[in-house]
Amino acid sequence: MAELVVALDFKDAKSALDMAGRLRGTASWMKVGMELFSAEGPSVVAGLKGMGFKVFLDLKFFDIPNTVQGAIRSSVALGVDMVNIHILGGRRMAEAAMQGCLEGTPVGAEPPLVLGVTMLTSMEEGDLPVRHAPAPGEMVLDLAVKAKQYGLNGVVCSGLEARKIKASCGPGFICLTPGIRPAGHDRGDQRRVVTPAEAIRLGSDFLVVGRPVTGAESPEVAARAILEEMQSA
Ligand code: C5P
Repeated sequence: MAELVVALDFKDAKSALDMAGRLRGTASWMKVGMELFSAEGPSVVAGLKGMGFKVFLDLKFFDIPNTVQGAIRSSVALGVDMVNIHILGGRRMAEAAMQGCLEGTPVGAEPPLVLGVTMLTSMEEGDLPVRHAPAPGEMVLDLAVKAKQYGLNGVVCSGLEARKIKASCGPGFICLTPGIRPAGHDRGDQRRVVTPAEAIRLGSDFLVVGRPVTGAESPEVAARAILEEMQSA
């Protein structure tokens, strides 16, 4: 069964933990991204873990191998359940990340999932600032196949690409999908969007949803509606 991950894109820990508290019993995964982590640091991760949530630390590392190895090691030592890097950093960076993951995992504990970002779901054809850019679907699939070869556990991709990725990389290779918009919702800055039901039918394992839940009049009702849509798909 696919999981709902709520993106806690808030400027302070109080707002994030209040939101998480409202969603306790509905969603079991929370995502801490750049905004919240830059403001509050590891304490917000500890707060969420203390509330019993699984935590995806979404810092999308992209740097030289030695730096990414250390960043992943430090992230994993916080006790998070999922971390990520950009696949565009290449084989040596990805392998260093996997090494950092092992180094940061306490002996006997299960290492967290390490995913690779393919192409941001806010980007579409023409947005990649390079000459002769491939079509998004083609580039995402190529990067996913590379991520699998590098030993990552899965990728961050749009629902639009999940089916092809599963076909090429195998059913156990994780597809985590942001850019989820229930029918009728404003897509905001996102571009390669799908509904929760489409993401499930296309094979996504984790659906990351931010504003459609956290910006709703009742986040609890919005999250439950998404979970119901996921289940009935
Ligand atoms: O509010 P919304 O549902 O658009 O939030 C999506 C979340 O997923 C954001 O926190 C964003 O940083 C994250 N994300 C994304 N696209 C990626 C990777 C992560 O939108 N490729």
